[in-house]
Amino acid sequence: MITPVLLCGGSGTRLWPLSRKSYPKQFVPLVGDETLFQASAKRLSGPDYAPPLVLTASDFRFIVTEQLQDAGLDPGAVLIEPEGRNTAPAILAAALHLATTDPAALMLIAPSDHVVPDAAAFRAAVAAGVPAAQAGQIVTFGITPTHAETAYGYLELSAPPKDGHATPLTRFVEKPDAATANVMVKADNFLWNAGLFLCSAQTMLKAARTHCPDLMEPVGAAVTQAKTDLGFLRLDPAAWGRARDVSIDYAVMEQAKNLSVVPFGAGWSDLGGWDAVWREAGPDARGVATTGPATAIDCDDTLLRSEADGLEVVGIGLKNIMAVAMPDAVLVADMSRAQDVKLAVAALKDKN
Ligand code: GDD
Ligand code: MG
Repeated sequence: MITPVLLCGGSGTRLWPLSRKSYPKQFVPLVGDETLFQASAKRLSGPDYAPPLVLTASDFRFIVTEQLQDAGLDPGAVLIEPEGRNTAPAILAAALHLATTDPAALMLIAPSDHVVPDAAAFRAAVAAGVPAAQAGQIVTFGITPTHAETAYGYLELSAPPKDGHATPLTRFVEKPDAATANVMVKADNFLWNAGLFLCSAQTMLKAARTHCPDLMEPVGAAVTQAKTDLGFLRLDPAAWGRARDVSIDYAVMEQAKNLSVVPFGAGWSDLGGWDAVWREAGPDARGVATTGPATAIDCDDTLLRSEADGLEVVGIGLKNIMAVAMPDAVLVADMSRAQDVKLAVAALKDKN
């Protein structure tokens, strides 16, 4: 059995105004009727999977259980982080929690804010990684790069990958600068890291003891001193506050020598901005995607989205524009500035 470890901590500021601090992007239906969190949990369910272990903040605990129940899934365990300390402490807490019941248990660490349309193909890729994970590897999932993206990790293959098998990695490079990304995207032996990892709890703990030993004491204490509250497990705040804020990619993956990859070619998107949502929404022949009461007249390559009942959004003669209307906020921006939407959140925070 594989336990999905669902990371639900991000705030998704680049998808403002739909994604809010109090209701981040993984909990809203961005593409289709389900939320990204529900789709992620469903994708990792079935006969080979145990109920998920969810890591989230206190504010989201009831949203998590409600959304899992609405999706017809067993809520499993929910670990509450007193504050966000990034993915390394969260993943170690999950590994320590699982290790108490079954150290050999396989965990599939997964973000809850990605779009993977072909769930069956994804489960097949996970199954292909199981033998390597059982043999002590940390298995990553690789996407064929399309451009010199600097927001992703890059996986260097040691040999051409074989279908249905995990291939050992030579190197893991997290968020390279543009020049390095450019070199890697042109070479044919690099894949993007999809942000999912399959390994046993024991393998993860061993890697952490070697590569980020400073995290073991605070995270260990936060787990052993955790308190049960209405079925949720609250990690101890004082111990948790001592853990370094670092992602698993920097803390473990860049140093680990026991990494493998299963390539995944069936479609994947990190919904990192409104441009990605526009692409996933399936734009028409002129590149127009509309959601809600929205009408485009003579527009090209444009996203028009209304999230408010009866609030009509109409665009005329637009090109490369994204417009997202909520009852209390409207975003209008050039599509090329999708990554700058987080600036709006920062600007509004300074203003209030
Ligand atoms: N529970 C919890 N607590 N979850 C967290 C925390 C935290 O403190 N911080 C981040 N997360 C969640 C996010 O919500 C997201 O689902 C996932 O962990 C990954 O964190 P991101 O902050 O989105 O990472 P990233 O996108 O910059 O980079 C990672 O993903 C890329 C692919 O999307 C890396 O693994 C890259 O190597 C990878 O290419
Ligand atoms: Mg991300």
